[in-house]
Amino acid sequence: MSDTPTTSSGRRSAAVAPLIPRTAVVPAAGLGTRFLPATKTVPKELLPVVDTPGIELVAEEAKSAGAERLLIITSPGKDGVVAHFVEDLVLEHTLAARGKESMLAKVRNAPSLLEVASVIQESPLGLGHAIGCVESELADDEDAIAVLLPDDLVLPGGALGRMAAARARYGGSVLCAIEMPSDEISAYGVFDVEDDPQDPDIKRVRGMVEKPAPEDAPSNFAAAGRYILDRKIFDALRQIEPGAGGELQITDAIALLIEQGEPVHVVIHEGTRHDLGNPGGYLKAAVDFALDRDDYGPALRAWLEQRLAKD
Ligand code: G1P
Repeated sequence: MSDTPTTSSGRRSAAVAPLIPRTAVVPAAGLGTRFLPATKTVPKELLPVVDTPGIELVAEEAKSAGAERLLIITSPGKDGVVAHFVEDLVLEHTLAARGKESMLAKVRNAPSLLEVASVIQESPLGLGHAIGCVESELADDEDAIAVLLPDDLVLPGGALGRMAAARARYGGSVLCAIEMPSDEISAYGVFDVEDDPQDPDIKRVRGMVEKPAPEDAPSNFAAAGRYILDRKIFDALRQIEPGAGGELQITDAIALLIEQGEPVHVVIHEGTRHDLGNPGGYLKAAVDFALDRDDYGPALRAWLEQRLAKD
């Protein structure tokens, strides 16, 4: 195995935004059915993008943005997700004894990023329900949380910092939006938006709907898996009923906050976004990351060119 030093993502943002909430919540309780049979025993969030689990990339993003604590929501039997962020002293000792310094650095990265805590969502009742499970873990002075869905890689970094800056200006909750083609919009939470005359990259949200039929979508702006949610979200989560897919949806709680007069804005993300939630999107992310690496990129590029020339 190569011991060449590499960065785990190669895409870290240098920007540190001091205003991001202290706790970054990462929901990782899903069954990962799109990745069966692999996810019978391996949590989807630990599948490697080249060599680094998607959830570690997301934790790096939270750290770069200034979060202090990673609060992982898991489900029974998915202990491996949290274990990934715990030091493995036996493995570290073995690598150190063999002089494998760069491997040691890779193994130590996840546990060194942030303070890590976890909560268990006992039943798969939806993303809204999962997020509701973290309320009791927050300190009294935490007036907002960041939520990062580990299915979504939002690149380059910096979206959370821009969202935190928008919250400092407008208050309330701020989400990240990406523009999607109409034929893909029904897979997302979709925003009804109005322009901000002062900032073309920010829009005020008038409403939000989860997985609308294409003809009912209020816009082509979709939720991209990054949220800064005011603590009032927990009251809203207590008031909503099951929605799309029979699940308690975070989208419906956000829509309720808007109805109650709370400010909600989106920051438009213009960069790349990968969807690790299905094998097709996961493969694109892996190829994209691998092409940027010094150790695997050149050979992969040459092989891809040859392979594509055959079609
Ligand atoms: C979830 C959210 C949805 C959001 C999407 C982003 O849906 O419910 O609002 O647009 O993540 O990836 P899921 O992909 O879990 O069905």
